Amino acid sequence: MGFYGDRILPRLINAACDSKDLRPLRQRACAGLSGEVVEIGFGSGLNVECYPAAVHRVTAVDPSGLGWKLASKRVAASPVPIERSGLDGQSLPFDDARFDTALTTWTLCTVPDAVGALQELRRVLKPGGTLHFIEHGLAPDEDVRRWQYRLDPIQRRLAGGCRFTRPIAHLITEAGFTITDIDVFYADGEPKFAGADSLGVATA
Ligand SMILES: C[S@@+](CC[C@H](N)C(=O)[O-])C[C@H]1O[C@@H](n2cnc3c(N)ncnc32)[C@H](O)[C@@H]1O
Repeated sequence: MGFYGDRILPRLINAACDSKDLRPLRQRACAGLSGEVVEIGFGSGLNVECYPAAVHRVTAVDPSGLGWKLASKRVAASPVPIERSGLDGQSLPFDDARFDTALTTWTLCTVPDAVGALQELRRVLKPGGTLHFIEHGLAPDEDVRRWQYRLDPIQRRLAGGCRFTRPIAHLITEAGFTITDIDVFYADGEPKFAGADSLGVATA
């Protein structure tokens, strides 16, 4: 990724994503997680304090070594054991049907093959296991979408490949999940083009 992607961007993401306003959304996304959990795009571990008591262990997947380093205090303080295993959500080094639940928060925007990563999550989930997600993506309103398409090339360059225009619900169903709960909204305190969030649960 180079110096910016490896050494600067994870710090910027940690600072930007460690917002008080996002915490209630993280809590909502993590509600219902249980048992063996796989989290892709673990980053600097900002979801750690939101894992419910029913979680036995979290397996963290993320390419960023610096993100994992920035997560170290959160990981050490967590009552839930967390291990880093796997660098790429598009190719998970786990057996089929190993996990009870899965988590992704503001990550599908950046993974190059988002459907491939979702198919991998579906493969490693037990049948009937659930994927819990909050992701920003393509807005429900046409005027906002126009801005998203205009700004996408800049965003991709500055934010490590992140796109504003991913159709989150469509990608999840394309990967074979059944969405059982979804809330699509504009996050408070963010411009609409960046804060068109989809929060929900899908069954493998
Ligand atoms: C915007 S950050 C979100 C981090 C974290 N999920 C959060 O909510 O704060 C996106 C994360 O996706 C990770 N990522 C990028 N490509 C990935 C891939 N192919 N597989 C797994 N994670 C990836 C990045 O390293 C980064 O940590």
